[in-house]
Amino acid sequence: MQAVQHDLFCDIKQALGNLSLPQYIQFMLKKELKNKKIGVLGYGSQGRAVALNLRDSGCDVIIGLPSQSKSRKYAKQDNFVVTTTPKTVKQSDVLLFALPDHLQGRIYKSEIEPNLQAKTTFVFLHGFAIHFGFIKPPNESDILMIAPHAPGIALREKYLTDKSVSAFQAIENGKKNSKQLLTALAEAIGIRKNKLVENSFKNEAIGDLFGEQAVLCGGLSELVFNGYSVLTENGLDSDNAYLEVCYQLDLLISLIKKHGIIGMYERISVAARYGSVKNSKKIIDSSVKKNMQAVYDDITSGKFANKLNKLNEKDIEKLSHSLKKMSSVSFEKSSKKFSN
Ligand SMILES: NC(=O)c1ccc[n+]([C@@H]2O[C@H](COP(=O)([O-])OP(=O)(O)OC[C@H]3O[C@@H](n4cnc5c(N)ncnc54)[C@H](OP(=O)(O)O)[C@@H]3O)[C@@H](O)[C@H]2O)c1
Repeated sequence: MQAVQHDLFCDIKQALGNLSLPQYIQFMLKKELKNKKIGVLGYGSQGRAVALNLRDSGCDVIIGLPSQSKSRKYAKQDNFVVTTTPKTVKQSDVLLFALPDHLQGRIYKSEIEPNLQAKTTFVFLHGFAIHFGFIKPPNESDILMIAPHAPGIALREKYLTDKSVSAFQAIENGKKNSKQLLTALAEAIGIRKNKLVENSFKNEAIGDLFGEQAVLCGGLSELVFNGYSVLTENGLDSDNAYLEVCYQLDLLISLIKKHGIIGMYERISVAARYGSVKNSKKIIDSSVKKNMQAVYDDITSGKFANKLNKLNEKDIEKLSHSLKKMSSVSFEKSSKKFSN
């Protein structure tokens, strides 16, 4: 028995030894992805990382972009076959939506829906367009989601160093083998099975929007800039104020991620602990939670999504002007100075 196993092992080893690297990658590719063309629509933050990871995992990838797209040169530099969105839709078995969320509904109606093939699989990186009803795929299509918890650059870096970011996974519409396809796709994108967290399109869409508006981006930047303003308005110079209210944030976040909020407090000085217990509720008082609830209600009612879905180029330009008011030239200078 052992001799038979040994012979079989030698045969396989010899067969694999004769394969070129691309052939070997194809051999290793999960059966769910074999002979499937994956059309990645968009080549921005997520699109580039996802497309490169899929290709390095052995998948057959093409990129769909408008003929005037600024992203075309990057996809071409990376040696991808780049074609228009309608042509990509016509050629693909799997469509991966790496498009701006506010445009997905409009692009779907004009460029995707009229060119769809039977049984195209839809893969989203965020639940927004499906949950809020801006995209309504045909009933027979699989609708899957892999929403990485990282910007594209981190997704790519982790893949190249044989590590994995975490991601939400969800199936809005699927068949018997959709879960296997989802897992195979996630792995090819660079997300390991043990880093996939079960979710739904609805909860991912709501949670993601709320998290970025109330805490991670909107809430955090206001907190930091208000602290910075108080210190500079009371005479501290910009670098000094920046170092006090912002520079160490990542270290404290690391402590919270590793040890929890209480664990973080246990690891800082008595002065910092005492001062925080005494004053944190003065800074973030009960009105903040009420305001957060109002933001949450706007998200769940679809009010926010409908506004986002109507944004045009002019609105986005205005957004850049508003952004400038969320910081100051001196804060930005200090941030650059200590960025390394
Ligand atoms: N960024 C993140 O950290 C992150 C994390 C997790 C999930 N996501 C999700 O990933 C998805 C993509 O977001 P992103 O941040 O990668 O967007 P992005 O950086 O803004 O990139 C969007 C891409 O879509 C292209 N595009 C615009 N119109 C198009 C059309 N008609 N057909 C084909 N391509 C078109 C853009 O080309 P141009 O260069 O011409 O504009 C650009 O390459 C979203 O659902 C988002 O929620 C993002």
